[in-house]
Amino acid sequence: GFEVRIASTGKSYVVAPDKTIIQVLKDNGIEILTSCEQGVCGTCITRVLEGEPDHRDMYFTDEEHASNDQFTPCCSRARSKTLVLDL
Ligand code: FES
Repeated sequence: GFEVRIASTGKSYVVAPDKTIIQVLKDNGIEILTSCEQGVCGTCITRVLEGEPDHRDMYFTDEEHASNDQFTPCCSRARSKTLVLDL
């Protein structure tokens, strides 16, 4: 597992291996718009302020993945222990 931190509130939430980031945020009252939930459409794109996403989408280019400043939380996860999201 890893943690996501919401920049505006400073609150952190643990993402267990069997949950998506979207599910964990929703359980905590934070709603991110989604559509495909498979990393195809780009609807859920969220800015990343700190940490390294584990990109699982097919939406961004390799170059965009490498810059690690945005990701698709419907399906992507984290390589770092913590991801700070611009929410
Ligand atoms: Fe489509 Fe996340 S909901 S890429």
